[in-house]
Amino acid sequence: VAAPDALPSASSRQHRDDDDDPDQSSSLLVAAARRDPFSLVADEVAAVGERMRRTVATEVPALADAALYFLRPGVTGKRLRPTLLLLMAGALDEDDEGAAARGNTNPDAHDDPLAIDLRAPHEPCGPHETRRRQQRVAEVAELIHVASLLHDDVLDEASTRRGVPALHRAAASAVASAVVGAGGESSSSNSTNSSSSSNRADKLAILAGDFLLARASVTLAALGDARVVALLSRVLEHLVSGEVMQMAARADDLLSPSHYLRKTYAKTASLMANSCRAVALLSSAVGGEGGGGDLASEARRGGDGMPFFASSDGVEGEDVWGEGAEGAAAGGGGALLYGGGMGEEATTSGGAATAATARAASRSNHPLPAADAAWAYGGHLGLAFQVVDDLLDLTGSAGVLGKPTLSDLRAGLATAPVLMACEEAPELRALVARRFSRDGDVARAVDLVRSTRGVERAWALARRHADAAADAVRALPPARTERARAHRAALVALTRRVLERRK
Ligand code: FPP
Ligand code: MG
Repeated sequence: VAAPDALPSASSRQHRDDDDDPDQSSSLLVAAARRDPFSLVADEVAAVGERMRRTVATEVPALADAALYFLRPGVTGKRLRPTLLLLMAGALDEDDEGAAARGNTNPDAHDDPLAIDLRAPHEPCGPHETRRRQQRVAEVAELIHVASLLHDDVLDEASTRRGVPALHRAAASAVASAVVGAGGESSSSNSTNSSSSSNRADKLAILAGDFLLARASVTLAALGDARVVALLSRVLEHLVSGEVMQMAARADDLLSPSHYLRKTYAKTASLMANSCRAVALLSSAVGGEGGGGDLASEARRGGDGMPFFASSDGVEGEDVWGEGAEGAAAGGGGALLYGGGMGEEATTSGGAATAATARAASRSNHPLPAADAAWAYGGHLGLAFQVVDDLLDLTGSAGVLGKPTLSDLRAGLATAPVLMACEEAPELRALVARRFSRDGDVARAVDLVRSTRGVERAWALARRHADAAADAVRALPPARTERARAHRAALVALTRRVLERRK
């Protein structure tokens, strides 16, 4: 197994000129990007959204409706993934936006790389259309994300998502009314029919998710870059593994912070880390010299990339939450790193070696290769995002979130604030171990968590990951244009937005 790579830390900004540091630049463009990190790529994200809707068009009517369900305007969610991927593309752009394409005299080339790409998924983008290729990675990442949500809602028996009925619920009503409308139902067979319509609706939602993955695969293949295919295939593996880790967790897994962190990386952060890496590999800034490896090393990298704190090598009782890193980070040292891996790799990468590697890199005076910094950004942002998600499930409002709260506890899952609370209120451990399955367990767990610093410590954990993501932006190779600097400022601002979100 390759030696784990180090993450940039707070000190990595020391080597940058002020001009390169998005925190220091005072141009209007940079200031606007900092104020509203979504605005810089909002039109392009909308164009990618429109392309996605065309990508999933099919002549099978029931499938067409199901595939489009979460791609319709109004229920698309925040589109965080396409946003951060297109910002990363801009952050690594060496030319002014669109300049290269506009100067392109090839009649087959699109005039404006930021307009909707009308080519079919199987059509190649062309060898020089860097931005188009990165847009397709954004499209594939979002399709994978939506597919995983369709599956997840069936597995979780969820009623709502994004403020509307989950697809399998909406489809169950549609199937039931179609049966009633056809006059094919007698009152005595109502319950049988309603369970078979929900059964069929579950299958439809699963198949719709499979269909999105199938169309995403065609788009991915058309990019013609096997390294990118390998990275995004790893993401699929991680999504499934994370879901099964959660589903099949035994009592000791449920109580284990390192199991929680690995599962969280697999379910949420891997998609952001590996798709950011893919965007960087395709960028002209990387161009083969900026740290992108060959197919074998990228395939391995996608599997190895589990961002953890220094001691999260599976040894419980150590500083698994990385709280000891806080003082070091404030002093410019930092102790965050990429270490460990899933399954076998987790046991073969030693904590001491990974901590030393991280420290050495954090003190170095050289920027990281673009692909590594992009990967670090996505991984840490994903972890911060998920810890906040876990906190909102515990402390947020159902009306604001568009889905019920306390769903993790009700599903028998202990997240960061609960696991941190266990360290102060050991009686919580029995409730976690039995998945909060007895009457009153959920309410008792909430009370116990409230009596500890669990929520506060989990916010600090999210902040550490958000800070590490911002550091990764500062560790990118120097920006060549003001627009690239503005995109970097937006990436940093996004790390704050993730902490401020309430839904
Ligand atoms: C949401 O989790 C779910 C995920 C982040 C991933 C789910 C992955 C699968 C179902 C595996 C299958 C994968 C594919 C690609 C088809 P959550 O239930 O914790 O959060 P929620 O509140 O948003 O439902
Ligand atoms: Mg769910």
